Amino acid sequence: MRSLLFVPGDAPRKLEKGLASGADALLLDLEDSVAIDNKPKAREIVSEYLNANIGKKERPRLFVRVNALDTGMTDADLDIVIAARPDGILFPKSRHGGDVTHLDAKLTAREALHDINEGSTRILVLVTESAQALFGLHNYRGSSKRLDGMTWGAEDLAADLGAETNRNERGDYTDPFRLARAQCLFAAVAAEVAPIDTIYPNFRDAEGLKRETREGRRDGFTGKMAIHPDQVPVINEIYTPSTEEIAKAQRLIAAFETAGNAGVISLDGQMYDQPHLKRAQRLLARIAK
Ligand code: COA
Ligand code: MG
Repeated sequence: MRSLLFVPGDAPRKLEKGLASGADALLLDLEDSVAIDNKPKAREIVSEYLNANIGKKERPRLFVRVNALDTGMTDADLDIVIAARPDGILFPKSRHGGDVTHLDAKLTAREALHDINEGSTRILVLVTESAQALFGLHNYRGSSKRLDGMTWGAEDLAADLGAETNRNERGDYTDPFRLARAQCLFAAVAAEVAPIDTIYPNFRDAEGLKRETREGRRDGFTGKMAIHPDQVPVINEIYTPSTEEIAKAQRLIAAFETAGNAGVISLDGQMYDQPHLKRAQRLLARIAK
């Protein structure tokens, strides 16, 4: 998944637009973009929307962002939406792998209730939304077989820290948030799930979005969340490997094979060893999905 577009769960017009946005996934939000009084209504709208769209062949993957465990609303969200068979749940404000295991159990019970194959509801998790969460990043690996991706958030973390801002005058993240970003990346790779970069909130600033998306890709993220449909094509383009990159990866793998799977080879005057081979294999695996 290259692009994952947030859509407020109580906004039917945006939900409709999301389908045609070109996003690889929609994040149907019941959490921060929905006011507290509107939660019951949003659950109904999202559930109807899933029922209407989940059976379609050509559609983005549909994830529901539920409310966090400590709100006491997670069960009510799941009770309504799991019956409508979303592809997965985006789980906010997770504190550690144990929270994901807890969600996994809640999903298992509801899958049984609705005769849904156990484990088919996937999990994406937001892992940096509080200071506490940054100390719980070590045990996501193996927390649930459902876990497909990890992503991070800078807005809730800023609120938790009491930070005045999370970006400097140039628009780049300040140190605490750069640390959170890097830790999410490490944790996702360690857990063998997709590292997904956070949103770029200034949705009229296409240049800033491009820069930040390229930086994410450079560092190893494999996709980025979005908040506005205009951001989707930019993210898709940057996270789609170019034909040159694919050809280069194929050529490198072929050269290793020709060399009898040697540990190190030379190609066009450059040294390539196992990390280069692994990177090439990963790139091809990503486009095969
Ligand atoms: N998904 C689908 N469609 C969206 C959309 C989204 N996230 N954001 C905007 N649109 C639609 C609008 O409905 C509008 O369509 P219309 O003119 O046919 O009605 C069109 O795209 C252009 O929208 P625009 O006027 O540029 O933006 P806006 O001022 O209406 O909305 C936001 C700005 C930020 C409120 C809106 O983009 C949004 O709700 N984003 C998601 C917020 C969210 O989920 N946050 C939680 C995670 S951080
Ligand atoms: Mg939030």
